[in-house]
Amino acid sequence: MLQALELRKDFGGLTVLQPTSVDFLPGEVHALMGENGAGKSTLMKILAGLYQPDGGQIKWRNQVVTFRSPHDALTAGIAMIHQELMPIPHLTVAENITLGAEPTGTLGFIDRKAQLVRAATLLAELDSDINPARLMHTLTVAQTQVVEIAKALGRQADVVLMDEPTAALSDLEVAALFRAITRLKARGVAVVYTTHKMDEVFQLADRITVLRDGTYIGTHLARDLSPPKLIEMMVGRELSDVFPARGQASQDVILEVKGLSREPAYRNISFKLHRGEILALSGLMGAGRTEIVSALYGLQPTFEGEIWIRGQLSWIRSPADAIAAGIGMVTEDRKGLGLIPAQSVQQNITLSSLHKLSLGPLLDHAREKKEASAQISQFAVRTSGPQQPIHQLSGGNQQKSLIARCLLHDPDIIILDEPTRGIDIGAKAEIYAIIQKLAQAGKAVLLVSSELLEVLSLAHRIMVIRQGDLAAELDATKTDQVTLLHHAMPL
Ligand SMILES: Nc1ncnc2c1ncn2[C@@H]1O[C@H](COP(=O)(O)OP(=O)(O)OP(=O)(O)O)[C@@H](O)[C@H]1O
Ligand SMILES: [Mg+2]
Repeated sequence: MLQALELRKDFGGLTVLQPTSVDFLPGEVHALMGENGAGKSTLMKILAGLYQPDGGQIKWRNQVVTFRSPHDALTAGIAMIHQELMPIPHLTVAENITLGAEPTGTLGFIDRKAQLVRAATLLAELDSDINPARLMHTLTVAQTQVVEIAKALGRQADVVLMDEPTAALSDLEVAALFRAITRLKARGVAVVYTTHKMDEVFQLADRITVLRDGTYIGTHLARDLSPPKLIEMMVGRELSDVFPARGQASQDVILEVKGLSREPAYRNISFKLHRGEILALSGLMGAGRTEIVSALYGLQPTFEGEIWIRGQLSWIRSPADAIAAGIGMVTEDRKGLGLIPAQSVQQNITLSSLHKLSLGPLLDHAREKKEASAQISQFAVRTSGPQQPIHQLSGGNQQKSLIARCLLHDPDIIILDEPTRGIDIGAKAEIYAIIQKLAQAGKAVLLVSSELLEVLSLAHRIMVIRQGDLAAELDATKTDQVTLLHHAMPL
């Protein structure tokens, strides 16, 4: 149905995609796998008309075609769900879903009622109950992703390119998406899929193509590959221990939260966090986990309850208060809250530490550059240099830069909200090692994660949040996925 023939892409004199040929068949799920920066999104964006190739051709139903814009590709029958979500914030959910394909009435005006019904139908196919009349900017990251998926499914395309569609989804939402993909397959649609979640690939894919550092490595039937074999193709070496061993947590309480409430998001949350401990907040998307940790970092200043740090009642009403109290955070919503896209990698990394890098009122530029470069190499951020605009980095490398920012101001209490979302398996292993090292150095880590395996393998203790309540507190070494899900499900 669709063929990439020797497609190549250069950026600023660097070839980020070496000539790559792959074909995509009707009714198949074709996974594109590779580490951060491997060129997966680049290949997809060429196929979707967003980038022009610097070499090679696209064949569509055996004809050589040129897509000058995403509109060209969409008209031909190719839709894409983007990794970096691009909703139009001040429009409604229904307007976003039907954008460019609005149902019209007899006089040519947009039929608002049909628009709402159409959006609701597409959302229902994904088991979602988001109200289509809501404004886009009021949605969570997960809901935004569901809307983007509904939008692509509504285009009745013959090829749907899905670039990390599940990155922000809970397990239940993932299951709904997989059912939708099964229906697409049955209709003969070609699905091209990228993800950093190994289990998804083997559940979904018929064939797998691997890219490494912009180079085509190979295409195989999924049933001919095993996870270790696939990982080896992706990283070019064997990867032994993804999860390092846990250290011993101390009895020394560094953070105590008493009766934290902010209706209707969460209520009466109390817990203690010890030095050397990794405490996970588990639960379904929308359970209130992000709201709780946002309060601790001063992002949601109106709440009831008390936050005690090192035995002292603390007043945290802004991120500056939190940083001064020794709290660092990597937020879940990297695009909305974390990243300053137009600024350099260096500026993004040093943003929370400028007070430490200044002499009086003046920023010590030499030191800023030195510290940023050290973080870049410690986290193996793939960039052409500290001055590169961060929006040009691949998703995973943007995330590593944000973790570097959080650690640069040397917090004692580290809040990580979905720290490995969109990060490749090699980088995940690096980040897990960093988290364990931080804990072993006496830091306390509060981890929010939707990947159950991650929670079970990294944390000492797990708090399960269900609809804003603290539903259970579990010893991570003595529980399992089923128990976690059981506590997380709404009653
Ligand atoms: N617009 C751009 N300008 C400059 N360089 C770019 C641009 N887009 C991508 N690149 C570079 O091309 C390379 C491949 O990036 P790409 O986004 O395709 O990777 P990816 O495989 O999708 O990674 P990830 O898993 O992190 O999403 C990266 O090194 C990236 O920095
Ligand atoms: Mg990508």
